[in-house]
Amino acid sequence: MIVSGVVQNLSCTAILGNTLLDIWHANDGGAYDTVGYNLRGKIYANSQGFYSFETILPGKYLNGAAYRPSHIHFKITPPGFPTLITQLYFQGDVDIPADAAASITSGTYDASHRIIPITLNGQGQYEGTWDISIDGNGNVGVADLHSDKGIIYSASPNPFSDLVEIRYGVFMPAKVKIQVFDMRGSLVATLDEQELLPQRYTAVWKPEGNLSGGIYFIALKLNDLQVHYLKVVKI
Ligand SMILES: [Fe+2]
Repeated sequence: MIVSGVVQNLSCTAILGNTLLDIWHANDGGAYDTVGYNLRGKIYANSQGFYSFETILPGKYLNGAAYRPSHIHFKITPPGFPTLITQLYFQGDVDIPADAAASITSGTYDASHRIIPITLNGQGQYEGTWDISIDGNGNVGVADLHSDKGIIYSASPNPFSDLVEIRYGVFMPAKVKIQVFDMRGSLVATLDEQELLPQRYTAVWKPEGNLSGGIYFIALKLNDLQVHYLKVVKI
């Protein structure tokens, strides 16, 4: 299973780059590794606030007479801010309604935004997106993501293996760039760098054969201002 998302502040106006995510969950049989670190790990969201990790769908364990729903534990620490300890669940899990934590739908412990859909991709892997909102100081303003100036409509196929076609719109005359970044925020490719009039356009990213599989971010930049981005997965 691949889980990914973006970390942002409580008002969803700023990206919280370099947020620490401490993640742990049970194995297939519902057991935790309490001796070593199997199915436990720490990662950082990158400078753009994106995070991603690959693991397995956690198994279930009994809590009294009932199974707890499949869940992933998180300790989330934005730079310079307190740690939030919480859990993530998966839509359609039959054990959610009877679970004391996962079934809460209001108040401080409202779990409804922590139950995410998971879908099977072409590789037989589950994929889920969880965007995290937490108290913190943003280093990249979402207000700077000016989707009124331009937008990426689609990237397909996604996931892709050889090439991905990116359809985007430009809403003001500008010097336009489509750029591709990896999970660490490093620039991988620059496509379609040119002066453009307001119109719909298509760009194609055909990475070198030796580029590793994984998650990449396609950014639309107008006059060097990032106005929109989209996540793509290279198989
Ligand atoms: Fe647990």
